[in-house]
Amino acid sequence: MKKTAIIYSFNTQKSQKVAEKIVASFGAKNIEAINAEELKKSVFDNFDNFILSAPTWFDGELPNYWDEFIPDLEEMDLADKTFAVFGLGDQKGYPENFCDAIGILVEILEECGAKIIGQTNLDGYTYESSKAERDGQFVGLPIDQENQARLTQGRVESWVVQLKKQIK
Ligand SMILES: Cc1cc2nc3c(=O)[nH]c(=O)nc-3n(C[C@H](O)[C@H](O)[C@H](O)COP(=O)(O)O)c2cc1C
Repeated sequence: MKKTAIIYSFNTQKSQKVAEKIVASFGAKNIEAINAEELKKSVFDNFDNFILSAPTWFDGELPNYWDEFIPDLEEMDLADKTFAVFGLGDQKGYPENFCDAIGILVEILEECGAKIIGQTNLDGYTYESSKAERDGQFVGLPIDQENQARLTQGRVESWVVQLKKQIK
């Protein structure tokens, strides 16, 4: 299996913890962690498969480190590359924008020609609206450490099993 890149902000607490669970579940030798705060365009040449962390901030927005990189990302041709996106959110605190950042990032990746994997089931979440939801499923993996932390380990493990089947 080729190495997968997992890109998340090393400055976060919660997203970092979840990313570490994904790495452990994946097997550390199969995956390389990259800091989203110091992201270079060349990273996207060096791997074929990517897992991106997109926690939602500012009432339905991407965090600053992704916002800053988006102009570069939008110029890339990501055909032949495979992406899966997970993101932290708070379904009780922000029910109208639950995990919107996942949907925002996925849409940009799709416009660059990327193949998206890692869609998940809506079951077990309660919210009003989410840009992460499309056609009866989530376009990535929402994680809610505020309200459902005890579900995180199981969600991560089944997602990684699914990704390993979907990754070339
Ligand atoms: C100011 C602020 C705005 C937020 N906005 C949203 C939101 O719109 N949607 C959502 O699902 N979660 C929202 N959250 C919850 C965060 O996504 C959640 O706390 C997450 O765990 C943050 O992850 P991080 O600390 O790893 O970046 C917000 C949190 C804060 C503090």
